Amino acid sequence: MSDEKKYYPSKAFQEKAYIKSMEEYQKIYDASIKNPEEFWKEVAKDITWFKPYTSVFEWEDKEKYLYSWFKNGKLNVSYNCLDKHLEKNAEKIALIFQGEEESNVKKYTYKQLHLEVSRFANVLKKHGIKKGDRVSIYMPMIPEFLISLLACARIGAIHSVVFAGYSTQTTKERIEFAKSKMLITADGSLRAGKKINFKEEVSKAIEDIKDIEKILVVKNIDIPLTLKENEYIYQEEVKSLDILDTCEPEEMDSEDPLFILFNSGTVEKPKGTLHTNAGYLVYTKETFKYIFNYHQDDVYWCTADIGWITGHSYLVYGPLANAATVLMYEGIPTFPDNETYWRIIEKHKVNIFYTAPTVIRSLMRYGTDPVKKHDLSSLKLLGSVGEPINPEAWVWYYENIGKSNCPIVDTWWQTESGGFLIAPFPGAFPLKPGFATKPFFGIDADVLREDGSKADVNEPGSVVIKKPWPGMMRTIYGEHQKYLDIYISKYPGYYFCGDRGKIDEDGYFFIIGRMDDVIKVSGHRLGSAEIESALVSNKNVGEAAVVPFPHEIKGQALYAFVILRAGINPSEDLVKELREHVAKEIGPIAKPDKIQFVDSLPKTSSGKIIRRILRAIAYDSEDYGDLSTLYNPEVIEKIKSKKI
Ligand code: PRX
Repeated sequence: MSDEKKYYPSKAFQEKAYIKSMEEYQKIYDASIKNPEEFWKEVAKDITWFKPYTSVFEWEDKEKYLYSWFKNGKLNVSYNCLDKHLEKNAEKIALIFQGEEESNVKKYTYKQLHLEVSRFANVLKKHGIKKGDRVSIYMPMIPEFLISLLACARIGAIHSVVFAGYSTQTTKERIEFAKSKMLITADGSLRAGKKINFKEEVSKAIEDIKDIEKILVVKNIDIPLTLKENEYIYQEEVKSLDILDTCEPEEMDSEDPLFILFNSGTVEKPKGTLHTNAGYLVYTKETFKYIFNYHQDDVYWCTADIGWITGHSYLVYGPLANAATVLMYEGIPTFPDNETYWRIIEKHKVNIFYTAPTVIRSLMRYGTDPVKKHDLSSLKLLGSVGEPINPEAWVWYYENIGKSNCPIVDTWWQTESGGFLIAPFPGAFPLKPGFATKPFFGIDADVLREDGSKADVNEPGSVVIKKPWPGMMRTIYGEHQKYLDIYISKYPGYYFCGDRGKIDEDGYFFIIGRMDDVIKVSGHRLGSAEIESALVSNKNVGEAAVVPFPHEIKGQALYAFVILRAGINPSEDLVKELREHVAKEIGPIAKPDKIQFVDSLPKTSSGKIIRRILRAIAYDSEDYGDLSTLYNPEVIEKIKSKKI
């Protein structure tokens, strides 16, 4: 064992853990790798199948990386998240909604949630939505957001959620890409006490999208709302007499699509990650149960927005498939004050709390006084997701929020993976801050060198996964070749996830960060190419390169190097204009923190920007990597001398 400090689960926690020791984990893990089909077959017994599957896993076309999990099986995900629980858990609380206004609390039992989802699904059907249709969803964090996802799943419509923090331009692109027939949105929402008008924003975005036939608007706050033709208020629609309280769940094939979720990558345009029914359900269900060690009386809170994969997998599908009680919060951690999260934990007696390192870092700034005012003794387990957690934040979280009594599960995964890939089994693993630890059952993970050979202990390399797992994305929607090029071709026989990491002498994975041009700002995933293209769409900009730099709260923030067009002079006003321009094009999360105007950028002789040099400059490092292809070496000193 390595000699860093390790944190062990308490005896009491261990006693209630599904997996109690490293030996027990290792035994199951080894068996799951040796015979994944047998392993997943056992797990799939927990799912209600309308018709049984004929094989657990089968390659359809290995060249094209096409395969089936639970081939020919028929099921419905919403049935497995709701109806299945009605026998034993009808009166159990499924969802606790806490609004930004403290008194705004709504609780739904499984029976009530089942009713709401059925009605919502009937409204969709009434408006012509059928199995296989795409439905875009652009919603604030209100119960109808979760309900709309399940309603789509119930009738076999493919939901495509667009995070509501994106600009109208980005939203438009994503709706167009999915070729959605309907858009579900809300009139507006409260954000830090301010009323935000959603409907108006999103209407602008879709003005000239031909595919959208109808807009369904959930009335949420008191703001003026004007409806045009083919726009409907959900609450009015659901009152109509022909909307029944029951809705037969559609029989879906295991490999039918469940949803599309866009994410940023190395290419300019967003990629629509496609997930399917059975594998995704099985995988999120199983990972949720084991990694959060979920037991039937636990109240679980995931702070992620449903607009991201964390919300899809671990606020909606994973927990509900386990008949869990999920808490959903409408607001942000620092409004009305910096005690908000701790107040909510105390009020709703949260047992499992899952958040992002950026949230922990932003709350750490206020010290421990706000924390001490609240009784957090209900907590049993803490979680972290979205970006590497720095050891200082980990220890603060452990000591002050978990009172040195709650394991922290640092869960490493991606939009593409559907669920956790590497994360601690909390009752079994000694924890080391910053380490995501070991792979989940059935995940054959490794670290490889550039030439495909296995990296040594502690040697950084590419994190890869051998063989598909049930929750793995099946393709980039409509662009299978791109999927192969990005994820599959780089290391034949492996899925390449784009992260750099290493494995230490304990076999623990340490994730260092992205090795491509994806930048994680406050856990949000942004592609440098997207931001660069937003910058050059401004009339003053000739060329731009965007790289990350370390940021105390956000983890990483954006540093833009910009070449202005001839005759345009740099100024503070122009910096402001460009920041606003990016916010308008992509969304406020993509605003560069630093903009440096430069005369030239480091390039190869063929004109390709060498971003790693800019990244080193932004990180105050001299580690530029190989400079032999750099065409204009003088540029390094020039840029450095004016670094912000
Ligand atoms: O770089 C890794 C980082 O987030 C990327 C995936 O981003 P996204 O698709 O937006 O999904 C975020 C929620 C799962 C990964 O490639 N990442 C995610 N979790 C961790 C992490 N990096 C280090 N540690 C983590 N726990």
